[in-house]
Amino acid sequence: MPNLIFAANWKMNQAPADAAAFLRTFTDQYPRQQDRRVLFFPPAVSLHAVLQGVRERSDLEAGVQNIHWEDKGAFTGETSGPLARAAGARHVLVGHSERRHVFGETDEETGKKVVAAFRAGLTPTVCVGETLAQREAGETIAVVKRQLRAALAGVDVASLVTAIIAYEPVWAIGTGKTATPADASAVHVAIRAELRAIAGERAAVIPILYGGSVNKSNVETLLAAAEVDGVLVGGASLDAEQWLAIVRAS
Ligand code: 13P
Repeated sequence: MPNLIFAANWKMNQAPADAAAFLRTFTDQYPRQQDRRVLFFPPAVSLHAVLQGVRERSDLEAGVQNIHWEDKGAFTGETSGPLARAAGARHVLVGHSERRHVFGETDEETGKKVVAAFRAGLTPTVCVGETLAQREAGETIAVVKRQLRAALAGVDVASLVTAIIAYEPVWAIGTGKTATPADASAVHVAIRAELRAIAGERAAVIPILYGGSVNKSNVETLLAAAEVDGVLVGGASLDAEQWLAIVRAS
């Protein structure tokens, strides 16, 4: 079973033609590695191009960056879990800090989206993380635990153990500031403890990714930190050469 995950969150970048070109470069130079999976989260309009680019590679998977919690209806501008799944997505990011802080998504909404993801057969990558003010006030662990509890409240243990968690401190996203491996590890250890409190020993298999200004220079030390099972990368995943260097990290 591959135990490392490298996930690319392209945010609002990469048109279909860009995604197709990226995947050609990437798949040419990246043979399957037994110990890792690579996930792509393109904008929804470029999902098809990514799926075409990875179609002969079971080690490369794709998903969407957000879903609505309802399955269908009059929600102009939204995409549901069943729509994303029917379009070929296997994964979805839920509760990304930009959803929470730019679009005002609440803990409760995040919880409803996690339930909707499982209902649709999508694997949620549940994102949690504190702001700089919360970190400076010593609230990091409490905030992350609260976000985790709320996001997972409606989920049974059998589903929960198939989820992916991502710790992304808000102050480290797109800022060039990265948590030190020790800081990341401390939060990951707390997340693992919280997952065990919810799901028992089976929580050991849930991957916990780190995200926030990960690049080819810092990825190896972050991956070496305790309880860091992979990375969720924004800016440095947009360039195929950089991304190749990151996914080759050992
Ligand atoms: P950056 O890697 O650009 O800091 O973004 C991190 C992120 O938000 C990934 O989801």
